[in-house]
Amino acid sequence: MNPKYRKTVIAGNWKMNLLPSGLKDYAGELKLRLPKDRACEVVLCVPAIMAAPLLRLLRGSRVSLGVQDVSAEASGAYTGEISAAQLRDAGVKYVIVGHSERRAYHGETDELIGRKLQRVLASGMTPILCVGETLPQRDAGAETEVVRTQLKLALAGLDAAAMRKTVVAYEPVWAIGTGRTASPAQAQEMCREIRAAIREKFDARTARAVTVQYGGSMNPSNAAELLAQPDVDGGLIGGASLDPVKFCQIVEAAKL
Ligand code: 13P
Repeated sequence: MNPKYRKTVIAGNWKMNLLPSGLKDYAGELKLRLPKDRACEVVLCVPAIMAAPLLRLLRGSRVSLGVQDVSAEASGAYTGEISAAQLRDAGVKYVIVGHSERRAYHGETDELIGRKLQRVLASGMTPILCVGETLPQRDAGAETEVVRTQLKLALAGLDAAAMRKTVVAYEPVWAIGTGRTASPAQAQEMCREIRAAIREKFDARTARAVTVQYGGSMNPSNAAELLAQPDVDGGLIGGASLDPVKFCQIVEAAKL
């Protein structure tokens, strides 16, 4: 628990990077450098094929395993898909849903994302729901409306108890992989807005309890300032999580 009375979650998103043959070295370095105190939750969302081997390599460490997508269906004839039950059975604890790259390249709609969210929750795992506006949307001054609509549609079927088990990640699309980070003030402003939307839909207690992360070019040099914002409860880290040294430095920054 941080002073904000909610969990700080530092999660890496490897996307489609790294190889199974590199896991041993990554895990070794990570175990060596990871701060021992448990001031925050540490998660690695990896390509599904690497989840089980990495889990074995990290056994006994404080790291939880996550993946980056899940099927909206329970089981059956869905070639190429992976179900929430299969992930859970393999030891996965976190699942990213609605990442902007899946929205953009795989046509994922808010409705589909909502169904995936429910699958993850029903299987007892923690969803990390990604929301965020594009640059043209921000330039048009529509960022708040865009994020509020994404939340409203994806969270439609949830009750307050399920909401409290959900992590929300604010990832402005223009800050992802661009090296252009949202300013701490911009990150704070939208994370506060997300919490306000949760309070309006559910209640104040739920809004206080939900972890809201920032994601988009977070790195060891900007992490401390972003994570110090009152409504920013962690980070979803792409590029910098591919390097265990940098990832551990961000975990370290979460303590400050
Ligand atoms: P980068 O940290 O590489 O900008 O990626 C952010 C992201 O999309 C995490 O999900």
